[in-house]
Amino acid sequence: MDSPIAVIGGNGRIGRLVVDKLLDRGERVRVLGRGPRAARRAGEVEYFRADVRDPGTLAAPLAGLSALVFSVEPGTSDSGPDSPEATMHRGVLSALAAATADGSRPHVALVSQIYVTRKSHSMNSYGRLLDWRLAGEDAVRGSGLPYTVVRPSWLTDRHAAGSQVRLEQGDTGEGKICRDDVAEALVNALYLPEGSGLTFEIYNESGSAASDWPRLFGALRHDSAAVAR
Ligand SMILES: NC(=O)c1ccc[n+]([C@@H]2O[C@H](COP(=O)([O-])OP(=O)(O)OC[C@H]3O[C@@H](n4cnc5c(N)ncnc54)[C@H](OP(=O)(O)O)[C@@H]3O)[C@@H](O)[C@H]2O)c1
Repeated sequence: MDSPIAVIGGNGRIGRLVVDKLLDRGERVRVLGRGPRAARRAGEVEYFRADVRDPGTLAAPLAGLSALVFSVEPGTSDSGPDSPEATMHRGVLSALAAATADGSRPHVALVSQIYVTRKSHSMNSYGRLLDWRLAGEDAVRGSGLPYTVVRPSWLTDRHAAGSQVRLEQGDTGEGKICRDDVAEALVNALYLPEGSGLTFEIYNESGSAASDWPRLFGALRHDSAAVAR
């Protein structure tokens, strides 16, 4: 791509996989995180100490991007800095504002989760996690930017539930997904026109066929043609 790609949470488990895949494609990558830079391939990325709850830290690293990946752990407090509201709603809004302040229109790929529309799910008792994640999704969908909202099921580091990827919409499923497949979905969504304007859940199932991302994305309903929720 012509301009850098920023990965907020690029020191995290999904984030690092995304960063490696982008570096493999020859991209200039900016990693944003609160702590010290992770050692892995650190020399190849531009690292910024930044916190999505502190908009002032986002301006420089999110200026002039071609794409932005948001993969942030949300916190579970009912209010205050460790609340999902602070990270997944206000944090997303701050990232969108910083990434567009100079007129840029980056493709935004947001990591959300399954259950976001199931308000009575027990996960919503942790700081209204699901409600605020959905509000963050809505902010991305309403931003006017090209975007992809990826809703992972339960994350695993290996293929615990099979090696095949299944994408769904409607948020009714249950299952598991390997972090590497989530990272593949995020990265492919940035490059493939079929991946833009989509909200989908992602699962593994038995099988070993390599993922055909244009076909997987192409089989989904575009959000503009459906109720995204
Ligand atoms: N666990 C599951 O089964 C499951 C299922 C579906 C979705 N998810 C979601 O998937 C996403 C990625 O998961 P993961 O396993 O890769 O998580 P992870 O390894 O914990 O990485 C999350 C990253 O978030 C960053 N972060 C946290 N607060 C931040 C803040 N205020 N500002 C900037 N960065 C911040 C952290 O970076 P620093 O510490 O460097 O700041 C960390 O690198 C998370 O949103 C997670 O909730 C998880």
